[in-house]
Amino acid sequence: MRDLLPEEAEHMRLIEMEAREVARLYGYREVITPLIEHYELLAAKIGEENRKRMYVFEDLGGRRVALRPEFTASIARLVSTKMVAEPKPIRLFSVGSLYRYDEPQFGRYREFWQANYELIGSSRPEADAEILSISNDLLRKTGLKDYYFKIGHVGVLRGILSEEGVKEAEQNRIMQLLDKKMQDEALNILKKQASERCLETLRRLFKVSGREWSRVIKEMNASVEGYEEASSAVENLEAILNLVSDAKMDLNVRVEAGFARGLEYYTGMIFEVYVPGMDIALGGGGRYDRLIELFGGGPTPASGVALGIDRIMLAVKGRRPGWTPTWEGLRVLVLPVNEEVKGKAMELSSRLREKGVAVEVEVMGRKVSRALSDASRRRITHVVIIGPKELREGKVVLRDMKNKEQRTVTVDEVADMLEGLQSGSSRISL
Ligand code: HAM
Repeated sequence: MRDLLPEEAEHMRLIEMEAREVARLYGYREVITPLIEHYELLAAKIGEENRKRMYVFEDLGGRRVALRPEFTASIARLVSTKMVAEPKPIRLFSVGSLYRYDEPQFGRYREFWQANYELIGSSRPEADAEILSISNDLLRKTGLKDYYFKIGHVGVLRGILSEEGVKEAEQNRIMQLLDKKMQDEALNILKKQASERCLETLRRLFKVSGREWSRVIKEMNASVEGYEEASSAVENLEAILNLVSDAKMDLNVRVEAGFARGLEYYTGMIFEVYVPGMDIALGGGGRYDRLIELFGGGPTPASGVALGIDRIMLAVKGRRPGWTPTWEGLRVLVLPVNEEVKGKAMELSSRLREKGVAVEVEVMGRKVSRALSDASRRRITHVVIIGPKELREGKVVLRDMKNKEQRTVTVDEVADMLEGLQSGSSRISL
C-alpha cells in the first residue's frame, strides 16, 4: 500500500471530482458502504482469482470479515435490503478505496481507488449503453483520448456451455482461465465433458475479434449457429452496439468473442477499457442480472462499471510527461514585514478567506525578499505585504508575482480586487 504525496493526492481528488460530476450529470446518487463486510457476501461471486487475494480476518466478535475488494457486492446487498422498495431504475455511485492482495507492480496495488457506477432495474440495452457512455465521459474528462473499449458478452460462452450441460462451477473455472487468456487450458478441461461441436464452436469464437464490430457480430452469429442462448446473447450485444453507434458516442470499440472477466456475477455484456502501451485495464464492468436476487432481493437486472482512479492517473501521467495537476486559481500570500503587524496579517488573511480567496500567511518570520522568492517557487500569484508605515494610513502593498508589479492600495481595495480576481479565475486544470 502506498502513501500519496500532495501532488498525487491532488491528482487523485481531481479525478474523483470529475467522477462525481459525471455521477451528477447522469443522475447517479452517492452511497457510502462500509470498508469491511462479511466475508461470505464479498466472496460469493468475486471469482476464484480475486477470492484468493482478499484480506480476510476474524473481528473481535468472532465474525469472518474482509476488506472490500470491490463495490458491486456491497451495492447489491444494499439494493436487496434497504433499497428493496425503491422505484426502479436506481442509479448509484460510489468512490473509495478497495483492497486486493495483488502482486505489487506497475498499476497493480494492494490499496487502490475506484469510481463505481451501478444502474439497477433495467435489463434493456439502453442501460448497458449508458454504462459505456459514463465510462467514456469520465475518461474524456480526465484528458485521455486514445483509450479503447474491449467488449464481449459472457452470455455467448456461458450459453454454449449451458446447452452442453457444463455445470456452473465448471463454467466458472473455464471463465477464470479465459480471463487469463489460457484458452487451450480451458478447451482441455472441456474435452472430457463437451461435444466436438462445442469445442469447434469455441475454437472458432476465440479467433473472432476486431474493431469493425458489425463484421465481428456477423462472424459471432455464424459461429454460434444452433446454440439458441448464445445466439440471443449475440443479438443483445448487437443491440447495445447499435445503440452506441446511433447515439454517436464515438466509442473506440474492439469486440472480442472469447473475452471473459474474472468476476463471476456477469450475465451479459462485459467490457474493459485500455490505453495503448499499458496492458492493465483502466476500468471494467458489465451486466449482472442475478446478483441482487442471490442476496435475497428478487429478480433485479443490473449493469455497472468501476473505473480505476490510480490507473487513470498513471495513464494521464504517461501521456503528458512532466505534467502535474495544478490549481490555476489565485493563490495569495499575506506577508507581515515585522512582528508588530503579525496580528494584522492574520486578520486580513481571515477577511480574504471569507471572500473565498485562498490565502497562506507567512509563518516562518522570513524577511520580505526571502519570502518573495519562496512565494514564486510555490506558485503564489499575489503577495499582500503589510508594513507598519502603510498600515497607519489603512494601506497595504499588493504585488502581482507574474509581472512583478506592485502598488499601494487600501485594505478595502485589496479585498475587493482579490475577490474580483478570484471569481474570474479558473478552478483547476486536469
Ligand atoms: P474490476 O475489473 O475487478 O471490476 O476492477 C475495475 C478496475 O479497478 C480495474 O479495471 C482497474 O482499473 C481497477 N483495479 C482493480 N484491481 C486493481 C489493483 N490491484 N490496483 C489498481 N487498480 C485496480 C470490478 O471491480 C467490478 N466491481 C466492476 C463492476 C461494477 N462491474 C459491474 N459493476
